[in-house]
Amino acid sequence: MSQIQTSTVTLTRIFLLCINVLHVYTMDVKRQRERFKPDYKVYHNLTSASMTIEHFLEANRGFVRYVEPEKYLSKLGKKQHVLRVTNFENVNLKNSDRVKVLLSFGEHAREFLPVESLFQMLKKLLFSWQTSEDPDVDLNQLDIYIVAIANPDGRQHVETSNNYCWRGTSSGVDLNRNFDWEFGGKGSSKDPSDEEYRGIKPFSEPESQTYRDLTEQVHFDGFLSLHSGIKQIYIPFADSLSQRTGRAPENIKEMLKLAKELSKSTIYKYQYGQAAKLNDYSADGSIFDYMAGRRKVNNIYLRKKNFFKDLLQCSNNM
Ligand SMILES: *[C@@H]1O[C@H](CO)[C@@H](O)[C@H](O)[C@H]1NC(C)=O
Ligand SMILES: [Zn+2]
Repeated sequence: MSQIQTSTVTLTRIFLLCINVLHVYTMDVKRQRERFKPDYKVYHNLTSASMTIEHFLEANRGFVRYVEPEKYLSKLGKKQHVLRVTNFENVNLKNSDRVKVLLSFGEHAREFLPVESLFQMLKKLLFSWQTSEDPDVDLNQLDIYIVAIANPDGRQHVETSNNYCWRGTSSGVDLNRNFDWEFGGKGSSKDPSDEEYRGIKPFSEPESQTYRDLTEQVHFDGFLSLHSGIKQIYIPFADSLSQRTGRAPENIKEMLKLAKELSKSTIYKYQYGQAAKLNDYSADGSIFDYMAGRRKVNNIYLRKKNFFKDLLQCSNNM
């Protein structure tokens, strides 16, 4: 990792297995109201974000496509924009030869930055792929699945209600507590008015079913969920049982190594570690615990160590 230039690195470039970046887990889970509005000259709104995604698809048909255009909708029927970025034009290559990663953006309504960082990433990655002899990221080797706006209803709610502290879906479910791993533990709430409300059962929400369905169809080598709010890089597990017992995923050593590399490569210093150790609170039913614990998404390091470096090198400074 010493080859990575700190000044050219951004989190959006980084694909780590089961790492949850910059997560906002707040200690105080009572709903709050934010008094300040985001500057929409800087941030997209839901409509313009969707248009930007459609534009990427139009302009890059050989490389960016919807996974299934009519599937993967929110409870209110809005697109989550599940994309796939790879070189579709290279028909000689078997799908299984490509390293498959799943990236997740926009799970929490109030976190605008991850979705913006996705746009930066797509822009740079595709520009480099189409113009450079030696592109930063090799789309013959990589098959990137992206959930671009995981929680469009929540985002809509934020914009129409002007409640910029809203975290959940349209029904107030915290998607990152709605997964089938230690669902229902004390690191979540059964109270619909709590911002860590987990829903009535695992995958009660169509928005989280998307991840279950995708991982049923594709065996991913890596998963990354992007959030905003704190300079920390989390690896699984985050649940309260793991916190009590010290349980860790099998490939914890490799994950810690990657997290360390990532932490050293960013402009600002990021703390890293297992979520359950880094924080004194826990999170039950989280998306990345599900990916690590149930889906065993853990191959990246074994399959292609350089992968990481390649991605880091086509980065920007967001
Ligand atoms: C969203 O942003 C676009 C482009 O800036 C603007 O034209 C539109 O009015 C905005 N929509 C809403 C609902 O705010
Ligand atoms: Zn979040």
